[in-house]
Amino acid sequence: MSKTVLVTGGAGFIGSNYCRYVLKNRPDYRVVALDALTYAGNLSTIADMQRNPETASRFAFYPGKIQDETVVNGIIEAEKIDYIINFAAESHNDRSILEPGSFIQTDVYGVFTLLDATKRHGIERMLHVSTDEVYGTIDEGQFTEHSPIEPNTPYSASKAGGEMQARAHRVTYGTPTIVTRCGNNFGEFQYPEKLIPFFVTRLIQNKKVPLYGTGLQVRDWVYVMDHCSGIDFALHHGELGEAYNVGTDGECTNREMVDRLLKLLDKPESLVKQIEDPRGGAHDKRYSINSDKLKGMGWKPAYPFEAALESTVKWYLENEDWWREIIAKPDYQDFVARFYGKYLGEDL
Ligand SMILES: NC(=O)c1ccc[n+]([C@@H]2O[C@H](COP(=O)([O-])OP(=O)(O)OC[C@H]3O[C@@H](n4cnc5c(N)ncnc54)[C@H](O)[C@@H]3O)[C@@H](O)[C@H]2O)c1
Repeated sequence: MSKTVLVTGGAGFIGSNYCRYVLKNRPDYRVVALDALTYAGNLSTIADMQRNPETASRFAFYPGKIQDETVVNGIIEAEKIDYIINFAAESHNDRSILEPGSFIQTDVYGVFTLLDATKRHGIERMLHVSTDEVYGTIDEGQFTEHSPIEPNTPYSASKAGGEMQARAHRVTYGTPTIVTRCGNNFGEFQYPEKLIPFFVTRLIQNKKVPLYGTGLQVRDWVYVMDHCSGIDFALHHGELGEAYNVGTDGECTNREMVDRLLKLLDKPESLVKQIEDPRGGAHDKRYSINSDKLKGMGWKPAYPFEAALESTVKWYLENEDWWREIIAKPDYQDFVARFYGKYLGEDL
């Protein structure tokens, strides 16, 4: 049956890939993207869907903030929205340590605005995209959906705050919410500030990459299209009020990830510079999520980790125009200088 889906944060990394996923896999759906176009949201990230005649007629874009209720309510009415999937967020841990206020505005208050709009307009389902970071860190075993919520950074605390708003809205007003929690994503169109795209784009330029501390932190990596299929599955088959982990058993240390990237790009170890950990005690040691709940309902990841990583690196090699335009912007250069200048010195 035909549906119209509002994808907030649709000009960002995962949101834009979810738009692509729906346009490809649900030919009778329309996709409406809303995005504030912060530093992380770029029109070049959605240009392919706007240009392609097969998708352009089913895709619309609105600039605006999720915490602006006039904008949100106006779009819902004008576009007759059936589902909302919320990807919009301030999403970078390191930035949250320096500027936590904007995280609370978007990741908590913005979620509340969407929940209220969901209730007011009788939206069928609102899926809120969250993160495994709300669980904090785990030395052994895996996080299940019943693990305690113990966030350690302003980013993960604000994501937990958004989730709690969704939970409370469901319990108090019966709002039709679903939450998903995923590990670290990688894939095409990821803004070059997070580990994989930051390192890949720097290595391509033969620039040094800053490895935090020993690099022994374990992350549970997920290819973005598997995350998108997990979200889509939870949206259509999930139970209202429930939370679902989305993971693909992609655990590896940051050090191992860097070694893989060096190998894929044929670059020397001398480009890796170990630096003091700027996150200090807030750097979670290990994430590992158990996705048996979603898998038990029939969801299956489709992309083997090594092949997905290789094709991601290839994408950055073949799409230099996309990321070179971003890294040439003053706000990106300012970010790199502010965050890494003191560690990388003249290697910046
Ligand atoms: N990247 C990951 O590894 C990962 C893992 C798990 C969960 N998540 C979650 O998935 C979602 C998407 O993450 P991402 O990596 O694509 O992030 P991203 O930073 O690439 O994209 C976020 C998008 O939201 C937009 N945005 C920011 N504030 C907004 C606002 N107030 N109103 C409307 N739009 C706004 C930005 O312009 C950007 O396009 C986030 O909610 C994040 O917490 C990300």
